[in-house]
Amino acid sequence: MKILVTGGAGFIGSAVVRRAMGDGHQVVNLDALTYAANLENVADVAKLPGYAFEHADIRDRAALDRVFARHRPDAVMHLAAESHVDRSIDGPGAFIETNVNGTYNMLEAARTYWTGAGRPEGFRFHHISTDEVFGSLGETGKFTEDTPYDPRSPYSASKAASDHLVRAWHETYGLPVILTNCSNNYGPFHFPEKLVPVVILRALAGQPIPVYGDGGNVRDWLYVEDHADALLLCLQRGRVGRSYNIGGENEARNIDLVRTICAHLDALRPEDAPHERLITFVTDRPGHDRRYAIDPARIRTELGWRPSVTLEEGLRRTVEWYLANEDWWRPLLGREGVGKRLGQG
Ligand SMILES: NC(=O)c1ccc[n+]([C@@H]2O[C@H](COP(=O)([O-])OP(=O)(O)OC[C@H]3O[C@@H](n4cnc5c(N)ncnc54)[C@H](O)[C@@H]3O)[C@@H](O)[C@H]2O)c1
Repeated sequence: MKILVTGGAGFIGSAVVRRAMGDGHQVVNLDALTYAANLENVADVAKLPGYAFEHADIRDRAALDRVFARHRPDAVMHLAAESHVDRSIDGPGAFIETNVNGTYNMLEAARTYWTGAGRPEGFRFHHISTDEVFGSLGETGKFTEDTPYDPRSPYSASKAASDHLVRAWHETYGLPVILTNCSNNYGPFHFPEKLVPVVILRALAGQPIPVYGDGGNVRDWLYVEDHADALLLCLQRGRVGRSYNIGGENEARNIDLVRTICAHLDALRPEDAPHERLITFVTDRPGHDRRYAIDPARIRTELGWRPSVTLEEGLRRTVEWYLANEDWWRPLLGREGVGKRLGQG
């Protein structure tokens, strides 16, 4: 299958590109190369036949039409987005332009192409979204696919809007869509502004490790390679018009996640132990959702998917990857906004 992947130079998109190429698919990687992108993430597969890169912006409809006409994909996996909640608090406009207007452009470019091709039944538009569209949970309960939307940050509101557009394009125009909403990802190639790499890199540098609020916010952590595996399964076997929640079955409080990372570093770098001494509680993010948890029953029963790694194992692999790949992360520390406290409202 020839898959047009948007955002394939980002964290999750690049895992999808690597996995799809490894499975023998052809990939067209469309990316605007924003601050969050890094083509090094796909360097291992970029030289293989069957890979193409298109430097294009999803806000540019004419560019999208050209890409569809040139490559004639069998499916789209749409991951390109502004993805950092803290940046959405400081500058929501970019999130509306890319996540809402950009998704609208992608839907219209895909619909025009699909209609022109005679509406092939096998075509898929797979929209990758987040569990943050469902809002914040209390101590108990989990998000199912039927949980009402209740986004609370500019980021999650922009993703919720894009999900609504995707459903509307299916109901109104018959575009064969699949939606997935996943929990927090972590793993190799994670841009160093997100919690897990921030903790690892601050600890390695002997700098304070910032933990928002009381550290009691709970997330359901999903190893990025497990996520890529689930996405390709949903694309190929998911039911058209349906959404699937993807979670790691790994709930953890932020403070416990940070302590686990510190314990792995203690084992690998004992000369600097205990890394926990660097933990510093800082003012909370405004509107910080307290708890997210995914009920993955649908993807498990319909498609037979389960995560392959525990949080403990996934974090160990991630810490080892950052220790072995300083050449990858060191240059990214100089990018705009990295290392600064963003999103204080
Ligand atoms: N990271 C997570 O934990 C998580 C969780 C749930 C859902 N998601 C969703 O998964 C998708 C990928 O997330 P990620 O963490 O890999 O993000 P990322 O920020 O690492 O990568 C986003 C990629 O999209 C590209 N991009 C941004 N704006 C663009 C534009 N206007 N045109 C073309 N390309 C553009 C960037 O250059 C970058 O390569 C996003 O849609 C995000 O909402 C992420």
